[in-house]
Amino acid sequence: MNGYRLSETEFERLTIAIDGPAVSGKSSVGKAFASRIGYRFLDTGLMYRAATWNAVQSGVDVNNSGAVSVAAEQMQFSVVDDNHGGNSIIVNGEDVTAQLHSTQVDDSVSAVAAVGRVREIMVAEQRRLAGEGGIVMVGRDIGTVVIPDAPLKIYLTATARTRAIRRHRDFLAEGNEVELEDILRSMERRDLMDSSRDDSPLRPADDARVVDTDDLSFDQVVDHLTELAKEIL
Ligand code: DC
Repeated sequence: MNGYRLSETEFERLTIAIDGPAVSGKSSVGKAFASRIGYRFLDTGLMYRAATWNAVQSGVDVNNSGAVSVAAEQMQFSVVDDNHGGNSIIVNGEDVTAQLHSTQVDDSVSAVAAVGRVREIMVAEQRRLAGEGGIVMVGRDIGTVVIPDAPLKIYLTATARTRAIRRHRDFLAEGNEVELEDILRSMERRDLMDSSRDDSPLRPADDARVVDTDDLSFDQVVDHLTELAKEIL
């Protein structure tokens, strides 16, 4: 012990990274966890979804990386906190948050998120927000690329089938009839694209705390993350 203690202000300005594959519960768990420890929450997936929505709206072919880059450069966007501990995204003056989870965006977002220029723009904004501290950031490359110095990096995971069953349950609860096997296939396709791309692929940081949520309830995961946070706070 050198007697050095973090001051209250530094204590509150830490950043926490949560990464993991699609439907690993990062966003819902991350939001509840952030609210439990009194931190801000940033869902970086929404930013890539906004870039995708904007490209599609502008009639851009999402497989044309040059055109996708130009559309992202021209997009005016900001991420704001909503009233429920989550985020809203304003694109060119319009709140587009409710449009970001359509199947069209789901199907195209991995291609857009693989474009280097798009990632540069998003990562710059994410680092700016991280600089303000006291934030839980959720994504695919947060612990490996965006804030590799974060004192707590969590990698949330579960088998593809468990994740597909959870998403299927959500769809049914919303009154949407979707085949479990279709969800599983689309999710595995996204996982493969996100983890095999050249730029910032999905993988746990070397020093990430890997949390396998297969046999844990939502509350148990939030409790577990809170225990991990107590070790650094
Ligand atoms: O977490 P999500 O499903 O909303 O993410 C949407 C897509 O964005 C996902 O296919 C991968 C990409 N993404 C990324 O590449 N890097 C991040 N930090 C967050 C999301």
